[in-house]
Amino acid sequence: MNAPVSSASRPSMLARMFRVKTLDTILENSKNQEHALKKTLSAFDLIIFGVGAMIGAGIFVLTGSAAAGAGTHLAAGPALTLSFVLTGIVCAFCAMCYSEFASMAPISGSAYTYTFSTLGEFAAWIIGWALVLEYAVGNMAVAVGWTGSVKEFLSAGFGVQMPDWMTSNTVTTVHDMSAANPSILYKAIPFTIPFTKTSEILLLQKAFNLPAALIILAVTVLLVRGVSESARTAAVMVFVKTAVVLMFIAMAAYFLLGGHLDLLNTNWFGGTLHLSDPAGMAKAWSHFAPNGWQGIVTGASLIFFAYIGFDAVSTAAEETKNPQRDIPIGIIGSLLICTVLYILVTAAITGIVPLNQINKEAAVVGAMYAMGFKYASIAISVGAIAGLTSVLLVLQMGGTRIFYAIARDGLLPKFLAKVHPVYKTPHICTILVGIFVALGAGLLPINLLAEMCNIGTLGAFLVVCLGVMVLRFTDPDRKRPFKAPLGITFPILGIAGCVVVMSGLPVTTWVVTIGWFLLGMAIYFGYSLRQPAQHNIIAPSNLSN
Ligand code: ALA
Repeated sequence: MNAPVSSASRPSMLARMFRVKTLDTILENSKNQEHALKKTLSAFDLIIFGVGAMIGAGIFVLTGSAAAGAGTHLAAGPALTLSFVLTGIVCAFCAMCYSEFASMAPISGSAYTYTFSTLGEFAAWIIGWALVLEYAVGNMAVAVGWTGSVKEFLSAGFGVQMPDWMTSNTVTTVHDMSAANPSILYKAIPFTIPFTKTSEILLLQKAFNLPAALIILAVTVLLVRGVSESARTAAVMVFVKTAVVLMFIAMAAYFLLGGHLDLLNTNWFGGTLHLSDPAGMAKAWSHFAPNGWQGIVTGASLIFFAYIGFDAVSTAAEETKNPQRDIPIGIIGSLLICTVLYILVTAAITGIVPLNQINKEAAVVGAMYAMGFKYASIAISVGAIAGLTSVLLVLQMGGTRIFYAIARDGLLPKFLAKVHPVYKTPHICTILVGIFVALGAGLLPINLLAEMCNIGTLGAFLVVCLGVMVLRFTDPDRKRPFKAPLGITFPILGIAGCVVVMSGLPVTTWVVTIGWFLLGMAIYFGYSLRQPAQHNIIAPSNLSN
């Protein structure tokens, strides 16, 4: 660990906060043997990696509450399909920017490193902190969704009910105090806290989501063992979950086209869609989008979670054999595949199941049941479990790589960046992140976790778009193996899109997230800024050298 510097040798705080690292320095540093990672991944591995990170709790679980509404979230209705289109387009703009950056600087750390090279140390720290929110907190949400799917599978397949105290973060019991013998009225489902009438007393008892914590610890052990082993394990699960999603789409098409198209008209449009009748059209739209544009944006702000992961491809840049070519292929390819699948899945769920009957804990499996395919529903549950496990692997790896990059820069204690002598993985980061995520997954609810993760990610996307724009002006001659077309159009559209999606997030989530960033700033000003600046970091005035 670095010793604190004397005030005489310390540059002014402000100058230090805005120091940048040039891309050349960053590339040079990544060759440092003590911290070097093994290069094993190909373009195909990266597409698997991206799809592996993306298809998960977002589509299998959160689609339900986004379409039907939950808590403070307005229902998007069947127009959730449009939320997926909107979010897919915003992500495409950002994917262009990520690809440009990653092809210029194929190194660990993703948006954190890109920001360091453009906006300086403080902004980089904030983005690093946002990315921890994305990967670590996102993985907590996925682990909670994993428990939900396991629970659904055991209950539907084998009639085994797992107790609430070990499968949720809180056990909620509601007692009816107006009755002669106050009795338990009902137990709440794990992910929502129900509305209480005055005659009822709501008791919240802390519980611990044990399966979620255990799966995170298992993933951590696998990641300490090595990237290519983990990538192979993830690949098998990615194939299973993609097959399951395709199977769902095929069966839904078979069901709807085989005599149930009227169901589609009823569930989407309230049965009022008649092209020759303009009044009916207006009614059809209000059924399709019960809360209009606002509902679509609110839906987008929650299901944005489903897209998280394509950016994780860029965190593996340092472990990729030919990163300049393969990272853009991995990012854009995986985003394209998932966007198409998500739109079809959402269209099918909302077409088959009436809004008030959508299963908020397992939307896809619920729709399968609604079609009357019991055994296929069990198969889908297995696919969902495999799918969520692969997301856990990829996001956990992404999170540790960000942490590793920050520690390597000396903004966190340097021993955290040590690479295991045999496995060549950043084992200390991996274990610490593993424990943190396991605890969070055990103790917190899925919607809050997913929304916090979305804020962190949207913030990081926004800054990456900004960084690409800055570099176009400050470093115009740099070789860009991949360049987003049409000047700075894509970065600008990416920024605007992130702001629109962020505007749909609820106030409570913003408050909790602001607390997270205040903690981050306390660490930066209390620790990072007191460490000697690394020799490889230069002042803004030298940026063009
Ligand atoms: N996109 C990932 C999921 O939906 C995080 O689980």
